[in-house]
Amino acid sequence: MRKFDVASIRADFPILERQVRGKPLIYLDNGASTLKPLVVIDRISKYYREESSNVHRGAHFLAEQGTVFFEQARESVRRFLNAAQHEEIIFTRGTTESVNLVAQAWGEVALQPGDEIILSELEHHSNIVPWQIIAARKKAIIRVIPIDANGDLDFEAFTKLLSPRTKMMSITATSNVLGSIVDVKKFIAAAHAVGALAFIDAAQAVSNQPIDVKAWDADFLAFSGHKLFAPYGIGALYGKMALLEKMDPYQGGGSMISEVTWEKTTWAAVPHKFEAGTPSIADAVGLDMAIRYVEDLGFEQIQAHKHSLLEHALKVLPEVPGLKILGSPKKQTSIVSFTMAGAHPSDVGALIDQQGVAIRAGHHCCQPLMRALGVPATARASFSIYNTMAEIDVLKTSLIKAAEFF
Ligand code: ALA
Repeated sequence: MRKFDVASIRADFPILERQVRGKPLIYLDNGASTLKPLVVIDRISKYYREESSNVHRGAHFLAEQGTVFFEQARESVRRFLNAAQHEEIIFTRGTTESVNLVAQAWGEVALQPGDEIILSELEHHSNIVPWQIIAARKKAIIRVIPIDANGDLDFEAFTKLLSPRTKMMSITATSNVLGSIVDVKKFIAAAHAVGALAFIDAAQAVSNQPIDVKAWDADFLAFSGHKLFAPYGIGALYGKMALLEKMDPYQGGGSMISEVTWEKTTWAAVPHKFEAGTPSIADAVGLDMAIRYVEDLGFEQIQAHKHSLLEHALKVLPEVPGLKILGSPKKQTSIVSFTMAGAHPSDVGALIDQQGVAIRAGHHCCQPLMRALGVPATARASFSIYNTMAEIDVLKTSLIKAAEFF
């Protein structure tokens, strides 16, 4: 295991050397996307330079080797999520595609009119809209777990929503706006107690905490590679084998069939049934490298560093005149949302961008959560392994300058 040293970690990320608007880049938009270490960039580049080939079909050396790399990446995802078998890992474009896949492929077979799907006020649009689409088609009903005053999910209110009509609970493991960490194991157990399935959106959780689909007993779980130091356009869906086997395919095409005739086409075994067409092979291989990079650091060290960044931010940001932090969850990842008196969050973001500080401003694809919080938008700083206390201090001084301007 590598010893956690922020200077050496920073040296792994070439983009941190660049200047933005004449200032050193201070990248605090890790909730949207993490940066990529050189080992990942080099791994993708090597695939295209030396190994490029399609998988699962060629009768030649490169195709065979590419297939081995691609399947090794699947095994790495299995290990990372602690799934029972690698066939339970489906490569997708990311969390959004994974939710759509389950909503369509499971919902089409399983949902009946009047069935209920439970979501929560913390959800990102990617864990709302796919369920709304299938619910409208199957005449199912969506119920919503509220947040409490701290920005945590209200477990008591959740248990009141549960009934034999509940067929699916789909919730995030970590809020991308408030940083609230959800005790997913407890929610999953309660959903299972009424016979419902549980889908976990691990998009934010994946770079912050160990994921254990077996210990959590999650039925489905999704994440995106690009929030885990890996390339864009690759992510994964975990599903329990018994469920995946019962689901229809999501898309038709090459690689997902057993036999095609004009009369009847049969499906390939799971996971290939859900992987129509040529996959994003180099990106899967890059994801494999990113997982190894994270495993080498270990979540204990990652969490300790991020927690100290969060503590520092929660201490110094309130010194900015007019700044209000939203939410104070019991357990919080290194994400802080705030507003500033008299300024729209987008203007705050644009002003501190002039100092080279990158944050996100807006509704964060969480319009229902914004309504629950009573704000149209927030500014959000989200920290990762390469961020430093000194960068948070620059964030603070840039915000003080912005406050003077407003
Ligand atoms: N879901 C990403 C975010 O929170 C894009 O910024």
